[in-house]
Amino acid sequence: MCGIIGLLKLNESDSGIHDIVEGLKRLEYRGYDSWGYASINSSGIVMEKKIGRITKATFNHPASIIIGHTRWATHGNVTEANAHPHLDCNNQIAIVHNGIIENYLELREQLIKEGHTFKSQTDSEVVTHLFEKLQGDLFERAKQIAPMLRGSFSLVIMDARYSDQLVAIKNESPLAIGIAEKEAIFASDPLAFIDQTDDAIFLTEGDIALAKKSGNKITFEFFNYLTNNSVTKQSTKLDWKNQKIELGEYKHYMLKEIVEQPVVMRQGMNLDSAQDLANEMHNKKVIAIGCGTARHSAVIGKHILNKIAKFPLEVMMAHEFSYFVDEIDKDTVILAVSQSGETADVMECVRKAKKRGLKIISIVNVPSSSLARDSNKVFYTNCGPEIAVASTKAFSNQILAFYLIAFALSGEIKKQKIESVIGMLDKNISYFDLKAREIAEYLKNKVHVYILGKGVNFPIALEGALKLKEISYIHAEGMPSGELKHGTLALIEHGVPVILICPTDYTYHDSISNGLETKARGAYLIGISDKPHPSFNMWIQLPELSKEDEILYPLLETIPLQLIAYYTALALGRDVDKPRNLAKSVTVK
Ligand code: M6R
Repeated sequence: MCGIIGLLKLNESDSGIHDIVEGLKRLEYRGYDSWGYASINSSGIVMEKKIGRITKATFNHPASIIIGHTRWATHGNVTEANAHPHLDCNNQIAIVHNGIIENYLELREQLIKEGHTFKSQTDSEVVTHLFEKLQGDLFERAKQIAPMLRGSFSLVIMDARYSDQLVAIKNESPLAIGIAEKEAIFASDPLAFIDQTDDAIFLTEGDIALAKKSGNKITFEFFNYLTNNSVTKQSTKLDWKNQKIELGEYKHYMLKEIVEQPVVMRQGMNLDSAQDLANEMHNKKVIAIGCGTARHSAVIGKHILNKIAKFPLEVMMAHEFSYFVDEIDKDTVILAVSQSGETADVMECVRKAKKRGLKIISIVNVPSSSLARDSNKVFYTNCGPEIAVASTKAFSNQILAFYLIAFALSGEIKKQKIESVIGMLDKNISYFDLKAREIAEYLKNKVHVYILGKGVNFPIALEGALKLKEISYIHAEGMPSGELKHGTLALIEHGVPVILICPTDYTYHDSISNGLETKARGAYLIGISDKPHPSFNMWIQLPELSKEDEILYPLLETIPLQLIAYYTALALGRDVDKPRNLAKSVTVK
């Protein structure tokens, strides 16, 4: 994963290092185990690397060229030596890298034979030694080195002997350049330069970019090493509306993002886009792909499309898609679902599907993401930035998108029904909050939690379990309740918490029976339903929906489960927004 940034300013400035650190903080969602930066001053490269969260830079000298990195470890432990930037043997060249260099071992072996000394265990360090080894200006060396590398990478490189320029290489991992009046900012995500400019150039696969001070301006040159041609690039205006990140009165982004869902859902009522996607899907075979929470929303989408529009949707985990793509009919449409639009597994599917000539449509939150740019049609969930690693509001708006698409496919958009459910959320959110706190008190001392549901409620159970696992570190399993007696029931004993999602929809009676089977074995049963049941030890009451609208229950079930996960993690003193071992945007395979 990792976030990289590089700044080239026309004039030296006291604020350059500070700006880089602030930019890095906005990229911290991409990885947060260690961080670092390097700049050039009169005596050469000055570098600082630290383990843990991004704090403050120790150095504050005037600088016009600085690179920075926030890491999610792939190759090598979390140590200062493995944190980026990485220097060459003479401390003249510094690089930052996002991605994985697959052939690093053979490159490293060769470079060691030639006398280079490696200071880290990372795959990235080979790049800095390759720049040391080769001759020519930075741009020329980048053109020679890029084709030697295999894997996914975005790289920003500086050389103390060329202190008027920065070079970047992009293959598969994202990289944008913010163009401001007197500076250029390279970054994994334009969010890093939200305070500086709304003008951006997005690099595409195989691009090498040179930014250079030239008189009183910064000039750019682009070359594509995959096509072996010079290229010209146009800048795009970014729309920063709804993109500000403020925590406000909240203790954690996760809680803020849960609570703001009714507002965000209203922002996501994009009926025209739903119609556009429905038109692309009509009479076609559609395969939805996604990972984690986004895949859960696609599985819910499968049930929603089936019930509302009798539309058969196939869902695949993005990381499994490669094994099927060659056999997929060329007329098939791929529906990619992703909050970030940068998830490596999803982007790999998209590349492979495109290569096979398949059409790509997507449900995506980040408007400037690679997925949004690579899709034929996009439904923007319009949630604004989701900062907490645990996805909450993006999930609700992905489900919302599926409802709208299903309505569009069925020919009758029931906008008011959705609005009325959102109104119910407004009214009930404080009650859900209260109940979730009580339930968290029970769960916080438990080792295992089972969350059960049937039909459309089963993927909601999966999502509830994922939330609980990733932020509380309690083992939680989401299951179709009908599956219990085929094995898992053996694990139920006295006091084991079982959360049963059982609204009075088409699954109600079977779900209650399955809940009773766990209760008979000592389970502590927590019901999420509009109807009480004597077997419930605790109960979160959902608002009641009419028979005709029962397929909308998932919109009501989600927030209680998110709040249960939040308060359980809080009670256990976990780092709710940045759980261990994870990153928000998973940009490596
Ligand atoms: O950005 P994406 O929606 O593609 O991310 C997919 C998953 O990595 C993500 O949903 C992950 O499962 C969340 N941390 C879950 O809360």
